[in-house]
Amino acid sequence: MPPAPMKVTILVGTMTGTAQLVAQELELAWDDGETQVSTLLMDALDSSVFSREGVFLVCTSTYGQGDVPDNARRLYEDLQAKRPNLAHVRYGVFGLGDRTYAETFNFGGKRFDDILTELGAQRIGERVQHDASSGVLPEETAQEWGSDWLTLAREACSQPA
Ligand SMILES: Cc1cc2nc3c(=O)[nH]c(=O)nc-3n(C[C@H](O)[C@H](O)[C@H](O)COP(=O)(O)O)c2cc1C
Repeated sequence: MPPAPMKVTILVGTMTGTAQLVAQELELAWDDGETQVSTLLMDALDSSVFSREGVFLVCTSTYGQGDVPDNARRLYEDLQAKRPNLAHVRYGVFGLGDRTYAETFNFGGKRFDDILTELGAQRIGERVQHDASSGVLPEETAQEWGSDWLTLAREACSQPA
């Protein structure tokens, strides 16, 4: 029997779809016999999503004055309100932002990173901070970053939480 595939849930926070394109790119790159990827828009989710098996990737942009996108608000506020113990959770963050917003650059990803850490979850790898003003497409950044992150996620899964 081949080993069970590692499950990755990508949680997408987006206003105009860019983060969703990144998630689709990663799903295409990662989903094979050894890795099983589910991509979920955050819209209808609450903190119970973190009871899913496997690792998580929060893929979110930033809006307003350093806020999470509208479709991520429910999940973000539920984590703040319920404060579940997420010590079993391993996650990564792919943040999208724009350095033109110097004071709040990539705060959407940062907000999720901060609350997940506060709740006991352990981050896999560094938080990505894509910059829309850099001229590099976020899908390109994701492609380069994605294979290394998957390796780290596999290592994390082979160790007890
Ligand atoms: C109205 C508006 C507000 C924004 N505010 C921020 C911000 O505070 N910080 C930041 O880093 N990026 C900010 N951005 C940039 C977006 O996060 C960035 O363009 C991102 O790639 C959009 O991804 P999405 O299409 O998945 O929502 C803002 C963009 C818009 C249009």
